[in-house]
Amino acid sequence: MGPIDPPARLLMGPGPITVDPRVLRAMSAQLVGQFDPWMTDLMTETSVLYRQVFRTANEQTFLVDGTSRAGIEAALVSLLEPGDRVLVPVFGRFGHLLTEIAERCGAEVHTIEVPWGEVFAPEVLEDAVRRVRPSLVAVVQGDTSTTMCQPLADLGRICRDQGALLYVDATASLGGNPFETDAWGVDVATAGLQKCLGGPSGSAPITLSPLAVEAIEARKHIEAGIREAADEHDEGRRRGTRIASNYLDLAQIMDYWGPRRLNHHTEASTMLYGARECARLLVEEGVDNAVARHARHGRAMLEGVRGLGLEVFGDTAHKMTNVVAVHIPDGVSGDAARAAMLDDFGIEIGTSFGPLHGKVWRIGTMGYNARKDAVLTTLAALEQVLRGFGAPVTAGGGVGAAREVYADA
Ligand SMILES: Cc1ncc(COP(=O)(O)O)c(C=O)c1O
Repeated sequence: MGPIDPPARLLMGPGPITVDPRVLRAMSAQLVGQFDPWMTDLMTETSVLYRQVFRTANEQTFLVDGTSRAGIEAALVSLLEPGDRVLVPVFGRFGHLLTEIAERCGAEVHTIEVPWGEVFAPEVLEDAVRRVRPSLVAVVQGDTSTTMCQPLADLGRICRDQGALLYVDATASLGGNPFETDAWGVDVATAGLQKCLGGPSGSAPITLSPLAVEAIEARKHIEAGIREAADEHDEGRRRGTRIASNYLDLAQIMDYWGPRRLNHHTEASTMLYGARECARLLVEEGVDNAVARHARHGRAMLEGVRGLGLEVFGDTAHKMTNVVAVHIPDGVSGDAARAAMLDDFGIEIGTSFGPLHGKVWRIGTMGYNARKDAVLTTLAALEQVLRGFGAPVTAGGGVGAAREVYADA
């Protein structure tokens, strides 16, 4: 067996995407002891950076080790006690994932659904919150399975009025679509690195409001072996049930990231380096500029696929900036065309799940690949592949339409 030497690829699917080389470089740095002052300073800096990414003053802003799903599970298992009522608005695959995880927490889960390709109107959400009276509303912002971006600006107020906390899965949208933790009244948000943040998967940034922290602290249980005398006292005052997961127990993880530096888990230091670099690059660019960059290149890809004569799936008024779903033309095998993109051009585009399986491709323009050359190369390659499969395409229509978007911008 030889060393790892991956083929050159341009990852233009719905994530993961090609990692920013600066993030890869940061991840090749040597390890330092977990509680070395250099390392704990790095953790503090990482919290400072992610507060800017999430647009929040939340003290509790840190990383959960694991892929984005670890962040989601940490949030839900730490917030939900068995029997708690939860409302999950489902508009794609990841709404089903929130439902599934909340059910595993023993919560009483209520869902509302719209067809894939649509989002909820604010009045529909408000009616559901009033009817269900949940203690938590859990919702996805950008669902890559449908490419839709749920408007959330009113939901925090609605939840606050009804006494519910609001959890948002911003894995696929953060850094490429507007997201305002504090201004929108979001209590807990989680994300991942592998989409608009330009990193690999394996670390889940999270932020928690003081109200969410209070709810979680009430369930705090420090494990035996690292528990101290004061913890025994806290144990007696614990109001809620013990959090069902040890690894994803946010009460303990907050103590690990906080001044106490509780020895909970061994830090995934290489992921921490990568996550810090992702946030540092985003903050250096400016979060608004990064969102505008995603909007510009996403628009170019949208007009480009239309220029090729392809039909775009879903309500484009509510599309995420960073991914577009296109109907696979009649007579073209979706998988064979994706294979041709990969074999002949080294470009990966995405397949789809559930009701869209075999019907649409998903093409991403995010993170390091939200770039003009990546967009134009993908459109040029797609034209050739479609032509090879006998699909009617407008010669030069994709690249031409995208270049017009860039010229206007
Ligand atoms: C909106 C959303 N939530 C959650 C996930 C799950 O993330 P991971 O595969 O990193 O656990 C994804 C991954 O694509 C996603 O797009």
